[in-house]
Amino acid sequence: MPVSTWREAMERALYGPDGFFVRQAPASQFRTSVHASSQLSTAIATLVHKVDAVLGHPDRFDIVDIGAGRGELLEALRVQLADPRLRFTAVEIADRPPGLSPDISWLREVPTGTVGLVVATEWLDNVPVDVVGRDGDGVARLLLTDGTLGPAADPETVDWLAAWWPDFEQAEAGLTRDRAWRSALAGHTGLALAVDYGHTKDQRPFFSTLTGYREGRQVQPAPDGSTDITAHVAMDSLSTGESILISQRDALRALGITGARPPLSLASSDPRRYLRALVAATEAAELTDPAGLGGHWWLLEGRGVDVARCFP
Ligand SMILES: C[S@@+](CC[C@H](N)C(=O)[O-])C[C@H]1O[C@@H](n2cnc3c(N)ncnc32)[C@H](O)[C@@H]1O
Repeated sequence: MPVSTWREAMERALYGPDGFFVRQAPASQFRTSVHASSQLSTAIATLVHKVDAVLGHPDRFDIVDIGAGRGELLEALRVQLADPRLRFTAVEIADRPPGLSPDISWLREVPTGTVGLVVATEWLDNVPVDVVGRDGDGVARLLLTDGTLGPAADPETVDWLAAWWPDFEQAEAGLTRDRAWRSALAGHTGLALAVDYGHTKDQRPFFSTLTGYREGRQVQPAPDGSTDITAHVAMDSLSTGESILISQRDALRALGITGARPPLSLASSDPRRYLRALVAATEAAELTDPAGLGGHWWLLEGRGVDVARCFP
């Protein structure tokens, strides 16, 4: 493997011809909120109803999923929201999976002129980033895959770090994620939702969060395509518009996913219903666990609409 910056290594290892995400489904390697429970799509379906009302029930309502994996979220939403006005679009680098519903379009690039909801769950953490360290003179330099420091960071990266992550030994420069998010929303009207693990300025780590995943286990990130390579997202630098940043736990609770257990009395009066409710409560508990998926962030951004009217 040639020595390179981590941004170049991520690009090649994740999305190159034999890249990690090109070769296999994300669900085969780790568990995201989408795979944990259909209650995530239930909550997003509630959002769709709200945004639809705010937009005045347009003739066509787009649901665009960026970094759609194998289309699992869109399949769930399609079943939950039977409405002929809905247009489902997956945006993915990987090929369209066989057997996907023909109601779902599969694109490589984010479409423009969409009206409705754009969603991106655990996409931005896989958008390649530069990892930056400081040399003995305090100059910010790009970390290379052999662990040494390479060229000095460019002025825009230095400015981003000064504004968003001033205090670090090693940091990820979120500029590439900010640009990816803003460019994805440029042609959209309605609500946009990014769900990811990340941090905000008041609690940035001192060291890089770059890590790898393989077969469900956290491992050293490898630049050869054998592992996922991911880093937490600076969630507060993404949006330039009106937005709400809230934990997944609080967001799901606001949307009615509480994780409350069914009353024990139901076990004898209606055992099947009790069992179903218990499974739902267990899944909701996983989605809202503050030490796990519940600690992920929801960034809700309004595009031509008042975001506060789209979220309870
Ligand atoms: C961690 S997976 C998340 C999959 C799914 N959204 C979920 O939550 O389970 C990230 C996905 O984003 C896709 N991806 C990354 N960058 C992309 C880009 N620029 N355009 C489209 N898809 C992208 C990857 O191929 C991968 O399938």
